Amino acid sequence: MLQFFIAFILLLFIIAKSRPVQYTTSKLGTRIVGGQDTTIEEHPYQVSLDLHGEHWCGGSLITTTATLTAAHCTYSWELYAGEFTIRAGTSFNDEGGISIKVVNICNHPKFNVDTADYDVSVVFVIEAFVLSEAIQPAPLQFEQDVPDDTIGHITGWGTVEEDGDMSHILQHIDVPKVNKTVCQRLFKAERKIITDRMTCFGYTDGGKDACQGDSGGPLVVNGNQIGIVSWGEGCARPELPGIYTKLANPEISGHINHSLLGCVHIRNTFIDIKKNKLLLPFTVMYLIEFITVSDLML
Ligand SMILES: *[C@@H]1O[C@H](CO)[C@@H](O)[C@H](O)[C@H]1NC(C)=O
Ligand SMILES: *[C@@H]1O[C@H](CO)[C@@H](O)[C@H](O)[C@H]1NC(C)=O
Repeated sequence: MLQFFIAFILLLFIIAKSRPVQYTTSKLGTRIVGGQDTTIEEHPYQVSLDLHGEHWCGGSLITTTATLTAAHCTYSWELYAGEFTIRAGTSFNDEGGISIKVVNICNHPKFNVDTADYDVSVVFVIEAFVLSEAIQPAPLQFEQDVPDDTIGHITGWGTVEEDGDMSHILQHIDVPKVNKTVCQRLFKAERKIITDRMTCFGYTDGGKDACQGDSGGPLVVNGNQIGIVSWGEGCARPELPGIYTKLANPEISGHINHSLLGCVHIRNTFIDIKKNKLLLPFTVMYLIEFITVSDLML
């Protein structure tokens, strides 16, 4: 009886904890606004993380078998690694290049879907990409944060305006880094926290930004990747820069390093990203796990 009661309380707790906040549905899954056409040869590290063969998120190649993307692109329990493919070596959305099946997804264990903190995922493909002029790994810069106003370069096939259409041709733009204190102040009214795992890039006047479908793509400074497209409040709005996962944070670079040495298949929510509903069967499975754990504790 006591066990049943504990299980019931845990179920309530799980349901309460797993409700997503609004921006996760509006912005997560985040084309570049205000950009220009570019080619894959200019950005040979850019890949597309496809779900059921269609563009889902951006990403970057970091070794011949590993790509970097955002955890919010891959976290759903309902999605298996095998439902994703990585397409590399093409300038076009859902066309050309080479697609290889995903075998393993290593999300940051501390990824939080409500705050988008620790938004990093290392995604492995089943066989190695053959490197070419259009397929090359991105050099990563972990060592240090970059100064304010440094120009960052972003690329992607995401929507060209808030709630707009995806771009068929790869887009690129330059955006300057925004001072962290200033950024935190701008997002205060939105009740969003800019954590140490996040960095802000954008224009005060808006007009140029990452948008839906760019998520997981690379933020590059002087040819080195320093960030991952993570979230924003709408796209390209004035006074609301885009937020990127910061590779210079040791917990972010540490996760990438660990994952490259071998990872367990980690996912950590109960939300179906497509329909945004609770996944009861999985909740029940978790409950059984919790009951086993509380048995040990009692
Ligand atoms: C942000 O700008 C303020 C001055 O406005 C400065 O004191 C602070 O060091 C800057 N923060 C960072 C992280 O560079
Ligand atoms: C991860 O590896 C890179 C390159 O070897 C290194 O610069 C960085 O400090 C490492 N991060 C951690 C947390 O070990």
